[in-house]
Formats: sequence, C-alpha cells, structure tokens
Amino acid sequence: MEKIQSLKGMSDILPPEVYLWQYVEEEARELFARYGYKEIRTPLLEESALFNRSIGEGTDIVNKEMYSFIDKGGRNIALRPEGTAPIVRSFIQHNIDPQDLVKLYYMGPMFRSERPQKGRSRQFHQIGAEAIGPSGPHVDAGVIFLMKKLLLKIGINGFEVKLNSLGCSGDKKKFAEALRKHLLRENSRLCDDCNARLDKNVLRILDCKAESCRALVRNSPKAKDFLCAGCAGHYAKVKELLAKHTPVEYKEDENIVRGLDYYTGAVFEVTHAAMGAQDAIAAGGRYDNLMGDFGGKRAGAIGFAIGVERLIMALPPEKREEILTERNRQLDLFAVTTSSAVYDAAYTVIENLRDKEDILCDINYDAGRSLKSQMNLANKKNARFTAIFGDEELKKGEVALRNMKTKEQKNARLDRIYEDLKSELKRV
Ligand code: HAM
Repeated sequence: MEKIQSLKGMSDILPPEVYLWQYVEEEARELFARYGYKEIRTPLLEESALFNRSIGEGTDIVNKEMYSFIDKGGRNIALRPEGTAPIVRSFIQHNIDPQDLVKLYYMGPMFRSERPQKGRSRQFHQIGAEAIGPSGPHVDAGVIFLMKKLLLKIGINGFEVKLNSLGCSGDKKKFAEALRKHLLRENSRLCDDCNARLDKNVLRILDCKAESCRALVRNSPKAKDFLCAGCAGHYAKVKELLAKHTPVEYKEDENIVRGLDYYTGAVFEVTHAAMGAQDAIAAGGRYDNLMGDFGGKRAGAIGFAIGVERLIMALPPEKREEILTERNRQLDLFAVTTSSAVYDAAYTVIENLRDKEDILCDINYDAGRSLKSQMNLANKKNARFTAIFGDEELKKGEVALRNMKTKEQKNARLDRIYEDLKSELKRV
C-alpha cells in the first residue's frame, strides 16, 4: 500500500528539533508574563467572513491563500491564516473592556496555502502579542520594545526593524489615491499582478519584488506626505521613544505597507539576513479601526507576530547547539537484565527511581533480549551508567553499576541505588 505522507508544506516537528520550539515558547511566556501579557487561545477554525472583512477581500491571503471551505453544515469556514482578527472577534464576543490596556499573547499554528519554499510553509506557527485599549504612542513603542526584547532574549541578533506609518484611514485613502494616479500613468511597466492590484489593493504594489515595479515605486508618492497633523505627531513621538529607550535601532522604510488591509498608523517588519527571499521574521502594526468595524467599542490596537519557523532558522548555530545540549538530557541510567527471571525486579527499581527528578533512567523493554544486545542498546542511548541486574546480585540485594565510558563496574546496594548513582555521577 502506498505510504501516507504529511501534506505538502505541513511538517512534523520531531525531537530533538522540538527542544528548540520548547525553548522559544518558554522564553516567550516568561517575557510576556513580565510585561503583563496574558495568554489567549482562540479556535483554529473561524467563519471565513472574519478574515474576509479584516484582512481584506483584495489581499493575497484572502484571495489565494486561505484554507476556506463549506463544512457539512453548509457554513463557510476557514483555518485561521493569522491570529489578530480572531482575537478582536473574541474580545468583542466576551465584552472585554478596553478602557485599560488589555495585553494578550498567543502562540500556535496558522494556515496559508502558499507555494512552500525555504521559510514559507502552509502550516506555520506564530508567537504574537496584541495590546488593545488606549492608543497613544507609548503603546506603539512598548509593543516594539517587547518584540525586540523577545528576539534578543531568544538569542537572535543581526535583525533589522523597518518602520513606516500609513496614517489614519483618511490619510491612507488619500495616499492610496495619489499612488494609484501616479502608477496609472505608467501601468504598462507594472507586472501583471500589480496591474490587478491597481484596482484592488494599490498599496501592495509597494512591496512587489519585481524589478520594474520597484523602479516605478522609487519615485512614487510616499505615505508620510499624506499624514494628518495628529498622525504625523504620533509617528514622530513613536520614533523619539524608540530612539530614547533600549534603544531600538530602526530604519524607516516607506515601502512597508503590509499585506493585510486592517492596518492604519505604525507598521513594521523585522528582517534577518539569514532568511533569503522570505526575510521577515516578524511583523506587525496598528489596527485601530478593527474593533469598531466588528461592532465592538472603538479602541486602539497594535500588535506583532513572529514566525516561529523563521525565528528558529535565524538562531545562531552556537545558540542552537547550546539549547539542544541543555535540553536533550543524557540518560543517567539504563537497566539491563541477565535473564528474564529478574526483569520484573529491575522494572520495579527503575519505576521507583523515576520519582527522583534529578536523574533520568530507563529500562530495556524487551525482556527476552540478550545481555549483549541490551548493552548495545545502552550505548546507542548514550547512557552514562547501566544497572546490570543478575540473579546472584539480586539475592544479596545488590546490583552492578557500570560506568559506560570507563567500563568500571561496582556493586551497589539496591536500597541505596539512588545515592550511589548520584555520587558516581558526580565523579564523572
Ligand atoms: P504577517 O506579516 O502576515 O502578519 O505574518 C507575521 C509573520 O509570520 C511573518 O513575518 C513571518 O515571519 C510569518 N509567516 C507568515 N506567513 C508565513 C508562512 N507561509 N510560512 C512561514 N512563516 C510565515 C500577521 O500575521 C499579523 N497578524 C501580525 C500582527 C499582529 N499585526 C498586528 N498584530
């Protein structure tokens, strides 16, 4: 029968690689807690309309990439392509009061049916944070600090924060109109995708990778020239705060517009040289209209999401090794038996030793296996010691402890096996 494989673009995360994931998640939880962010878990499936109306009908995510389908009950539902819209939905559904800043974080799988390549998969994972409530520039700066501190805490360096402001929806609209007007004059030089974007989502032309489009965009109108006084002041203050604290080195990049429609105000991306074409390891921005658009109380909102696969790819090799060595605990003791008659006794000893948190023990699970093959197994498992259970020793209440490296062997009393093993482990 043909073997069933995982779906294209959807990967298993196996040990020892999974230790890197656990490390990243634990570091993130610790920092989020310190910043007063609480975890939220939303369902993987939502009504498609949630994403159509927030990310936007004209976007690649909704048009081409969303796993949306009609379920057996005739509902149009989608696997979540991102975490922000579900959080806004949940916020409103549970009448959470945004008067005080509500700080939430999440981690988990997202789904986009993109063409898989390095750093791009169909099931990928994000660690994200959203701050909903007051909308002053200190909130923007705080979210960007948090994102930067998280990357540094995890051990990522050499990343670059790129920042832009799209302004409020009025500013964004004026900017989009000016950009459309400008590009319409030269539309024959735009790629086919961008020609379609002229009508549907003109801002996306700014981050097209095609050289002809990039050349056109270089002299096109810039978002900052369309900011109203309020938005310009807000953006200036955010930049001042970023420069003053930590400091966050950032580069203003007028072509950062983001591929989701809900953004207004500050938008940012974090890129890393190790990534190649898919170089954004994190991204985010303000989305002050989303709460109101979905029928909730009007509230400011800003957040970011880090792509975990890309984050792990950006870990420096020495950090990667350090995490794997630390987490891939070596087996301290492996129990082997000289005959199946003593297997139950050995099994009980190991089961009791497992109550001790500071040692890692295991036993061979095939009672009929020869001693030689059990010793090979102990070597394969890289055990530091073996406990060799034999008939004669057991009768005396003893077991042989063998140091697998030096091959030294000595008998230990069964009722002191933990203490003896601990002192032997200290010696090596
Ligand atoms: P996004 O830019 O679509 O933003 O995704 C954020 C990050 O997720 C990207 O920078 C990238 O690292 C990762 N990512 C996206 N698609 C893939 C993929 N196919 N394979 C691997 N990694 C991927 C959002 O999702 C917004 N919800 C971020 C946000 C939060 N804005 C405000 N709050």
